Amino acid sequence: MNRRYIIAGNWKMNKTPAEAAALIEEIKPLVSDASCQVVVGVPFIDLPAALEATKGSQIGVAAQNCYWEKAGAFTGEVSADMLREMGVQYVILGHSERRTYFGDTDMTVQKRVRGALDAGLTVILCVGETLEQREQDITGEIVAMQTKIALGGVSVEELSRVVIAYEPVWAIGTGRTATAQQANEVCALIRSVLSGLYGPEAADQALIQYGGSMNAANAAELLAQPDVDGGLIGGASLKAPDFAAIVAAASR
Ligand code: PGA
Repeated sequence: MNRRYIIAGNWKMNKTPAEAAALIEEIKPLVSDASCQVVVGVPFIDLPAALEATKGSQIGVAAQNCYWEKAGAFTGEVSADMLREMGVQYVILGHSERRTYFGDTDMTVQKRVRGALDAGLTVILCVGETLEQREQDITGEIVAMQTKIALGGVSVEELSRVVIAYEPVWAIGTGRTATAQQANEVCALIRSVLSGLYGPEAADQALIQYGGSMNAANAAELLAQPDVDGGLIGGASLKAPDFAAIVAAASR
């Protein structure tokens, strides 16, 4: 199966709108001949600037979260329909920082996935184990459970609008990357979970990224793994040359 790689930047809570536009202007010429999908995941407030700056380019724009209801008394929240109407195509859901600091659970992630798919967005769904869980040798169980719950009610047709990002929590922002073998092992396991849920063909087509301290130096080795179809990049996505080098590694 020839899956098209997807490299997505997760800017987290970084960059003002003006800084976001400037960074995208810097990234644009560096990724103009990329053969992979290129996405920048920006703070809500930066979305208009990012959409404007990426216009006419092949760079897609992602939000970093969304609420599951369409509208109503939910102070501080943003709905998937609102994102969709403004032209956003992707939304990152279930990031470990959302789960750790903002109370996201597997069940609320499932609801967000539902809301996002209903609105027509493509979901980048994050799953991954903590260091403690890896040491207890329950990585497979944790990642399978997170994946199954988040995809509860998602049809095989909708699965084509879901990218799964395997992000071991211990590797996020720590400089401690999973080895290429560890990354591939869990991405393959996620693919086998998808095969159980949706059949081998859909699983074969699904895009599964690795995320966690992926950078310009280690991207090529990670992306060379058969079950790793791209990356979700935090720190290195804030430096245009580094992000572009990862995109280049995914474009070969
Ligand atoms: P990192 O972040 O690349 O800085 O480790 C990845 C992520 O949180 O998506």
